[in-house]
Amino acid sequence: MKRVLILGGTSEATALAAKVSTWPDVEVITSLAGRTQHPSVPVGGTLRIGGFGGEKGLSQYLLDNRIDVLIDATHPFAVQISFHAAAAAVDCKIPHLMLVRPAWKRLPPDQWIEVDSIEAGAAILPTCGRRVFLTVGRQQLAPFAGLKDIWFLMRLIDPPAFDALVPPGKILYARGPFSLDNERKLLLEHQIDTIVTKNSGGSATYAKILAARELGLKVVMVKRPPAPPAETVADVESAQNWLLEKLQF
Ligand SMILES: NC(=O)c1ccc[n+]([C@@H]2O[C@H](COP(=O)([O-])OP(=O)(O)OC[C@H]3O[C@@H](n4cnc5c(N)ncnc54)[C@H](OP(=O)(O)O)[C@@H]3O)[C@@H](O)[C@H]2O)c1
Repeated sequence: MKRVLILGGTSEATALAAKVSTWPDVEVITSLAGRTQHPSVPVGGTLRIGGFGGEKGLSQYLLDNRIDVLIDATHPFAVQISFHAAAAAVDCKIPHLMLVRPAWKRLPPDQWIEVDSIEAGAAILPTCGRRVFLTVGRQQLAPFAGLKDIWFLMRLIDPPAFDALVPPGKILYARGPFSLDNERKLLLEHQIDTIVTKNSGGSATYAKILAARELGLKVVMVKRPPAPPAETVADVESAQNWLLEKLQF
């Protein structure tokens, strides 16, 4: 029996766990950080929730649970866990793969303002937006909270913490995927002039980028943070092929 740990929190991680857990003689464990109240849980394999206690804690977990292969399929902005995973895999001498969906690419009609961080996005916003669609997640609202002359439509999965600094505006609770019709309607209804988003990539939340292109809206696009050096694939099928090779079926 081979044991595979998938660091999850993305649709790709869920899809990979569903496929690999049907393979004979392979046990799949998916790990979630536990950020969302009702996470979409994988249908295959077992699930564990919560941090490991840093890089050392993850190494210990890999040893204690006799993990043979580590797949980091976390979100491209979840860099802390990715650096821990890369280091722990070296430490434990086990194969390690990053499954990272490709970033969105700017097309000629797009009016993107690319920034290096959420804070840089907040700093530039007063020069370009008055009514802003903010889609950076509930944990990164604070940098925008001081922008009192801007009205924000914030789309979140779960409510912000009770003591969180929240910008002025309206909160909308929803989980992707979102359709182009939905996004177009939302942007028009709230007279949005600018969207703030991380360059998450993938199709589930891409419709807002399509709608911005169509309506000629500005997009403050937060670039991806640097990832650790690691063997990397861009889709679930490639991750399966890599695993097949490592598990030597
Ligand atoms: N960042 C985003 O924009 C974003 C968007 C959608 C989904 N997510 C998902 O949400 C999770 C947390 O994201 P984050 O940005 O807070 O990550 P992060 O900053 O890289 O990680 C912070 C800490 O959370 C714990 N952690 C993160 N992912 C984990 C996992 N899959 N299993 C167990 N522990 C995990 C680790 O705690 P210890 O040090 O104690 O081990 C890690 O050091 C990730 O799994 C990610 O895929 C993130």
